[in-house]
Amino acid sequence: MAKQKATFCCTECGAMTPTWMGKCSHCGVWDSIVEKIEIAKEPHCASAAFAQTVDEFGGSAEAIELLAIEAPNVGRLQTGIGELDRVLGGGLVVGSVVLIGGDPGIGKSTLMMQAAIGAVQANDEGTNVLYATSEESAFQCKLRGERVVESFKDGSLEGVYVLSDTDLERITAQVVKIRPKLLIIDSIQMVYRKDVDSTPGSVSQIKRCCLELVYLARKLDMAVMIVGHVTKEGQLAGPRVLEHLVDVVLNFEGDRHYALRGLRGAKNRFGTTLEIGLFEMGQKGLVEVNDAAAYLDPEAPPRAGAIVCPALHGSRCLLIEVQALVAQGTIGQARRRSNGLDGARLPMLIAALERHAGIELNDQDIYTSTVGGLKLIEPGVDLAVCVALMSGSMGLALPSNICVIGEVGLGGEIRSVPQIEQRVVQARRRGYKKMLVPITQQKLGGSGCAGMASIAELEGFIKKNAIIRTSQKQLSDGEKRRFVEWL
Ligand code: TYD
Ligand code: MG
Repeated sequence: MAKQKATFCCTECGAMTPTWMGKCSHCGVWDSIVEKIEIAKEPHCASAAFAQTVDEFGGSAEAIELLAIEAPNVGRLQTGIGELDRVLGGGLVVGSVVLIGGDPGIGKSTLMMQAAIGAVQANDEGTNVLYATSEESAFQCKLRGERVVESFKDGSLEGVYVLSDTDLERITAQVVKIRPKLLIIDSIQMVYRKDVDSTPGSVSQIKRCCLELVYLARKLDMAVMIVGHVTKEGQLAGPRVLEHLVDVVLNFEGDRHYALRGLRGAKNRFGTTLEIGLFEMGQKGLVEVNDAAAYLDPEAPPRAGAIVCPALHGSRCLLIEVQALVAQGTIGQARRRSNGLDGARLPMLIAALERHAGIELNDQDIYTSTVGGLKLIEPGVDLAVCVALMSGSMGLALPSNICVIGEVGLGGEIRSVPQIEQRVVQARRRGYKKMLVPITQQKLGGSGCAGMASIAELEGFIKKNAIIRTSQKQLSDGEKRRFVEWL
């Protein structure tokens, strides 16, 4: 009989440890270490299965010179959903495995159902899709299918098979029978293999099931999409190794309370991870959004603490409004909250403003946010955050046809951003005639661009261009609106 040994394992990140600890030394999460009785030979079984995968599909015992390897013609399966195909790098690669994560209720199952219907329609006749749901009944799936199919032109549920099961062996049996081009597993946390001695959702179950799905995808030349849960911190739940096993990792993000959702690639072996797919949750499922600028109104009255930023997401430039609220707080206990922006960067920008822009914020509560709930992670958004903070704290609003772009360094200097021309074009198209850009890129940006070298100039800039004073204090004569010559 195989020897049993006790180890401890983190339920959040999958790290192993020989002793129990209150806090995982790997991911830092408290109370996540559980004891795990493991049959010593089990990992070898898993690695044997993996070795077999490697052997059968492209692995070889001999090293080959790159030149001598003939690249196979990689087929792509379209999902028919433009935004999803774009994030995938032009569709699903046959034989690949995609892992998609996101908060509960964000719309993962809805997106998967739409992809299932879309894949049948957008590919050759006879394309079947198997939707294996381990969380819902087949009837629930049918209801969702009927709801979303209406958004397709010639909507039909033909060719989409549903299996409500959690046993991977039975799912595999159906895959072999139906031979779908696309298999959807919703979700991996509930799927199990009988021969793995732990509960569904445990690290070893997830790892093993995922490994088998990778094997299945390669062997049967089909694409597999796996839905995964996320932890409280927004990371994909389960072992990190899961992300290494699959070819593509996508995160479906956004706030459940907003309609706008973004699908972003965290890893993609067949394309860029810079792309973002935009969706809006509607009555008939997810609707593709071509431009987030629909959330903007250049005619809107100017507000202090709000500014638009042309941020880049892959090949697309999206105009997003950045907002900041500066309110009286308590010194030493001032709050800093960020929604949709990089929370770790906010304190740095506040410190830079205090040090270089001559503004005191240590007793002020600061909240920053993006309108629409979309995440902005590029550093180019820094200057917009600084402008919003300054304008909010001064109670001065900039005209609503100005947008701002630039990265801020620790010295307060404003650094160049990539693809300035594209941003200017996009902003102009949307009615933003004026743009504040890094001084190094003012010429590139062309007319209508004002350059700034350091955030030390921000106060003067805002005073000069502000058109509304929302605080009680009155503007001095010299401060009154002078943006006329610039506009
Ligand atoms: P769901 O796709 O089940 O989310 P997840 O699988 O990520 O948990 O559903 C997301 C939410 O969207 C759910 O609360 C119901 C809602 N919804 C719509 O508003 N319109 C629709 O057409 C559908 C199908 C769902
Ligand atoms: Mg779901």
